[in-house]
Amino acid sequence: MTFNDRSTPLDLLRSRRSGRARDMVAPGPDAATLHDMVGIAARTPDHGKLAPWRFVVIPDDARDAFATLLVDAYRAEKPAAARLEIEAMAQFARQAPTLVAVLSTPKHESHIPLWEQQLSAGAVCMNLEHAAHAHGFVACWLSGWAAYSAAVCTALGGREGDRIAGFVFIGTPSRALEERPRPDLDSVMREWRG
Ligand SMILES: Cc1cc2nc3c(=O)[nH]c(=O)nc-3n(C[C@H](O)[C@H](O)[C@H](O)COP(=O)(O)O)c2cc1C
Repeated sequence: MTFNDRSTPLDLLRSRRSGRARDMVAPGPDAATLHDMVGIAARTPDHGKLAPWRFVVIPDDARDAFATLLVDAYRAEKPAAARLEIEAMAQFARQAPTLVAVLSTPKHESHIPLWEQQLSAGAVCMNLEHAAHAHGFVACWLSGWAAYSAAVCTALGGREGDRIAGFVFIGTPSRALEERPRPDLDSVMREWRG
């Protein structure tokens, strides 16, 4: 099963894998395709119909500003940061043709447990990856330092209690994707009879 086996819905699900964000090249999805992907991602189980997540698209012409945001936030937290660390922040912000930050935005006033709302945000990221694959692109869900920075979350529109679920990078792989070892099902699946 290779990454390009997408001829049936099951093949599509079986063949998805992540690419390395820094190896992704153009083309990425155009605006209409990205819109469709986000629509698919938003068809995610969501207890209470709260939509406790937000998609923040960081377009090409905002990547430099995003790099500046990460570098400034990193320096503010780590004043002694080395040049290589700073460069890594800027490189993270600029990789891949398309970047969508997914925010977990739980409704704290709701009776739906926070955990369930956060799980839904994770499921959104996964659905976005499947949608990217179905459209013929590769995706990668990354966190990294930036996902845990309150300053970055706030700059992306996050409010008190919101978190960055991940940065989903999307593009075209510049090299053949390698499969990674998958868990042996016997080690992660069992029957329970009490
Ligand atoms: C919440 C979350 C955060 C992740 N952050 C990173 C990361 O910062 N760096 C990284 O190399 N992989 C990260 N990964 C793993 C990749 O997204 C991906 O799962 C991994 O490369 C294997 O790819 P595949 O199983 O989708 O083929 C993260 C995964 C999740 C679920």
